[in-house]
Amino acid sequence: MSVLEIRDLHVSVETEQGTKPILRGVDLTIRTGETHAIMGPNGSGKSTLAYTIAGHPKYTVDSGSITLDGEDVLAMSVDERARAGLFLAMQYPVEIPGVTVTNFLRTAKTAVDGEAPAIRGWIKDVRDSMKNLRMEPAFAERNVNEGFSGGEKKRHEILQLELLKPQFAVLDETDSGLDVDALKIVSEGVNRAKENTGLGVLLITHYTRILRYIKPDFVHVFVAGKIAEQGGPELADRLENEGYDRFLVDAVVAPEGA
Ligand SMILES: Nc1ncnc2c1ncn2[C@@H]1O[C@H](COP(=O)(O)OP(=O)(O)OP(=O)(O)O)[C@@H](O)[C@H]1O
Ligand SMILES: [Mg+2]
Repeated sequence: MSVLEIRDLHVSVETEQGTKPILRGVDLTIRTGETHAIMGPNGSGKSTLAYTIAGHPKYTVDSGSITLDGEDVLAMSVDERARAGLFLAMQYPVEIPGVTVTNFLRTAKTAVDGEAPAIRGWIKDVRDSMKNLRMEPAFAERNVNEGFSGGEKKRHEILQLELLKPQFAVLDETDSGLDVDALKIVSEGVNRAKENTGLGVLLITHYTRILRYIKPDFVHVFVAGKIAEQGGPELADRLENEGYDRFLVDAVVAPEGA
């Protein structure tokens, strides 16, 4: 079993208006085999947490720690994090012009494993995973994310997840923009990866519908840069019914003249 531990994490971002603190003391422990859902209002810092785990250079860690089995993740380069078994599926994945899906996947697999995959087995794995995700074979020859529809981008991310076999996956709004069938296919992909590799999942979402397919063990409510409440799956239903109002009292501006 592996453990990803986030302790009292404070993160800021450089903007044109100066340094902006975003994460204000995040504590979170994820073990392999566990699924954690993070829900919370727009702008609360969910994607910032995902990018910080992945090592995006735009985000500065001011204090706190992220460790993987005791190893300091923050001291690792982006590549080292991937090799250590961390995977991020981004909310807005970038285009890579001139690089086909096939070449991208093979290069990523080689980088993560430290050696090229044996060609025959690899081709079969790619074909099987694409079939499972109901992706046309021709998709493999397209350039990464170029002209991909929202749903194709998300399927491509889950394809990477299935093939790279990370220990921990952070999925940032993998459900947004998916039709009902695609949501099911993508969720099945995540569940398959969980079954095959026992991976730990951090699932960032605005909607409980994906949690019907990918069952969370824990649900965390993210507000103003930290976790405001945690619970089991029932907390997600409560949020869907009540919204985030009861967490946002601090953000309410006093009426004029008060
Ligand atoms: N690179 C950046 N430059 C300026 N501001 C940023 C940057 N990255 C994040 N922020 C700000 O930090 C705050 C948190 O953003 P973040 O994307 O982490 O929120 P989120 O919880 O993922 O929101 P959503 O639910 O809309 O995806 C926002 O106010 C955002 O504008
Ligand atoms: Mg976000």
